[in-house]
Amino acid sequence: STTLPYPREVVARLGDVAVNQPVHFNYPDSRSPCVLIRKGREVKGGVGPDRDVVAYSTQCTHMGCPVNYDQEAETFKCPCHYSVFDPDNAGQMVIGHATESLPRIILEYDEAEDALLAVSVDGLIYGRQANII
Ligand code: FES
Repeated sequence: STTLPYPREVVARLGDVAVNQPVHFNYPDSRSPCVLIRKGREVKGGVGPDRDVVAYSTQCTHMGCPVNYDQEAETFKCPCHYSVFDPDNAGQMVIGHATESLPRIILEYDEAEDALLAVSVDGLIYGRQANII
């Protein structure tokens, strides 16, 4: 829900983020692992000057296993039951057992600071009844 009191947190400086290199962080709290990716080309929901930066919760929506970013395939893969999620398409599941997309971490880009900020979550983080607990 957009009414939840999400924190605004700097994840990284855009200038420090290499293309296709996952940047790990936690959001909206320390128990929620996430990954930010700069795709190097415009993608759906991407932020920054090139609209190429996206971020997702890395807890699989099937049973909560940690998904890994596969740099070759440019997808998130779950090692537990092999669900695959597409970071270029809002975290949509490509194949597998999950029924929901990966929760998307909503980002903003602060041009003055060259900062990428996490500001909210679209989708329910696995195992939670609300994203802010
Ligand atoms: Fe990821 Fe089952 S926990 S596919």
